[in-house]
Amino acid sequence: MSVATAMIIGASSTLSQALARQLSAQNVSLVLFVNDPDAIYAFSQSLAGEVSVYPLAINQPQMAISQLNEAWEKHNGAHLVIVNTGVNEYDPSLPWSIDQHTIDINVMGFAAASQCIFKLMCEQGYGQLAAINSIAGQRGGPNMAYHASKAFAANYLQGLSMHAQRLKLPITITDIQLGLFDKAVHLRTQLLLSPIDNVAGQILTALKKGKRRVYVTKRWRIVAWINRVLPEYIYNTRHWKPKKKGG
Ligand SMILES: NC(=O)c1ccc[n+]([C@@H]2O[C@H](COP(=O)([O-])OP(=O)(O)OC[C@H]3O[C@@H](n4cnc5c(N)ncnc54)[C@H](OP(=O)(O)O)[C@@H]3O)[C@@H](O)[C@H]2O)c1
Repeated sequence: MSVATAMIIGASSTLSQALARQLSAQNVSLVLFVNDPDAIYAFSQSLAGEVSVYPLAINQPQMAISQLNEAWEKHNGAHLVIVNTGVNEYDPSLPWSIDQHTIDINVMGFAAASQCIFKLMCEQGYGQLAAINSIAGQRGGPNMAYHASKAFAANYLQGLSMHAQRLKLPITITDIQLGLFDKAVHLRTQLLLSPIDNVAGQILTALKKGKRRVYVTKRWRIVAWINRVLPEYIYNTRHWKPKKKGG
């Protein structure tokens, strides 16, 4: 028999699957939400414990809310819900379609899913809602909508946490400030890059401790701090490499 139920929204991501594997090994019953359930069929079958998979249209907020409500009722709620949906695209010619898509998924979809789960947890009387966020939200950046969407997520989560306190309900809201892993992979720097299982492990440890905000992995807290305190004239120019002479 499982010890708890955890829902993961955005279960096709590598990080979601590492979290799912560790939770399943700890005898947690899983409810996974994904754009296309067939895409993670083999993965779900590979898990040791109980697992259910549902489709979720995070880009259609009203439909996503109905899908989450339905699954919540079917499974009699959940102890933990992790929201891990998000897109991050960049094109220097700045087509509107990229910003529109980012806002649809990272802002509209994120808020719809988080608010829906928070209200369900209020009815249930307890729960923990966590979201995989990014240190990109600490300051603006060239992927304007992405950076802004992560700041939105941080503030949205803080608002939910204030609601939980006002209602005097044992609902924990955790903002998981992830480092820029894609950038670390690109730079091939072991200083910033950690194996995905370590990342998942640090996240689950922070969740068990009921943290309100956590930097994962820990060393990214320093990068986040540097990003915040860098003077504008350095922050604004450090992304752009000078053209090589004669190049
Ligand atoms: N990768 C990094 O370096 C990094 C760094 C810091 C923070 N993060 C954050 O981590 C989170 C996940 O990013 P990731 O890099 O793990 O990306 P990812 O592997 O592409 O995961 C994104 C998740 O969002 C879901 N998603 C996107 N569009 C969807 C849609 N229309 N309907 C339903 N689901 C949709 C994807 O599901 P489908 O595949 O089924 O569409 C997937 O599960 C994001 O919030 C991101 O900001 C990532």
